[in-house]
Amino acid sequence: EEIEKGGYDHFMLKEIYEQPRAIKDTYRGRLLADQGIIRMAGIDLNMEKFLNANRIIIVACGTSWHAGLVAEYIFEDLARIPVEVEYASEFRYRNPVITDKDVLIAISQSGETADTLAAIKLAKEKGAFVFGVCNVVGSSIARESDAGAYTHAGPEIGVASTKAFTTQITVLTLMALKLAKAKGVFSESRYHEYLTELETIPSKVEKALESNTLIEIIADVYKDSTNCLYLGRGYNFPVALEGALKLKEISYIHAEGYPAAEMKHGPIALIDEHMPVFVIATKKGHYEKVVSNIQEIKSRKGKIIAIVTEGDEQVRDLADHVIEVPETLESLTPLLTTIPLQLLSYHIAVMRNCNVDQPRNLAKSVTVE
Ligand code: G6P
Repeated sequence: EEIEKGGYDHFMLKEIYEQPRAIKDTYRGRLLADQGIIRMAGIDLNMEKFLNANRIIIVACGTSWHAGLVAEYIFEDLARIPVEVEYASEFRYRNPVITDKDVLIAISQSGETADTLAAIKLAKEKGAFVFGVCNVVGSSIARESDAGAYTHAGPEIGVASTKAFTTQITVLTLMALKLAKAKGVFSESRYHEYLTELETIPSKVEKALESNTLIEIIADVYKDSTNCLYLGRGYNFPVALEGALKLKEISYIHAEGYPAAEMKHGPIALIDEHMPVFVIATKKGHYEKVVSNIQEIKSRKGKIIAIVTEGDEQVRDLADHVIEVPETLESLTPLLTTIPLQLLSYHIAVMRNCNVDQPRNLAKSVTVE
């Protein structure tokens, strides 16, 4: 096992550090930026299904569901296709309206999650076209799907999902870009800008990982917290949810993720000097609005740990701690902003002597209801 960990203390840390490579492996052979091509056989062979779809329904559980939420923003924003994201466990039992004009995307690292598998079977029965985004080759969900695209994250051993999440977002981004191009909703220059920017993401993830030492220091300050709040807007709202989930899963600290602007409808009542608030405040996407949310937290004495774009001055003046990530296109920011939040949870869990790779009560793959 020590050999498999490749010199890292835990599988989770190894997998966090594998993300630049995993993301690259996921777009390698698919993204041909210089030729302006995205090659994905599962889409090419079924393009009509996607182009004629009334909507895309995404079903998943856990972290994969968060990747689905990011995909909702990507598909609607870039490809202009309506998307609904559902917890597989709710979808399968709520007698959903599904027709043969629906495309259902199932996202699952393991490809074995019982609820997601059942949701697929239901959608197929009703005539929907089912597309699987799985990591494990030949898994049940991959086999049950009509078509699909694998994430090439490699085996994920840590129960808390990390590289599966970022590679799922990578696949879903490639899909959305491909569909945007096919629908003609993207200008050539915008399309090209996305393709070339996507190729810079692995090195930008490397850069984000360089904050590890700073993050360890911040983790030490907040490791004894009993509650934490995570806030983000737009593309980074699902990242806030995922940040909170990671902390809950491995450190057993209660954490909630919220859309920053919803704070005033409840969580703001919780804020005092004992409440750390992790805020994703990158330059693109509602930056000024997030800054005013930060001011609201500050005036209530909440502790602010902000994830900001490199070189940011405004939030630095307000926050107790800032962690920088490189600049990128707004829709690609989740691939970067999620990295410091993974590292934070990891270090806090280690400092609390928690079993990082196998947290209590959790399973890597939930194959029963
Ligand atoms: C379990 C795991 C999570 C995972 C979820 C969905 O709860 O602990 O890390 O996100 O299942 O798993 P899947 O394999 O379908 O992505």
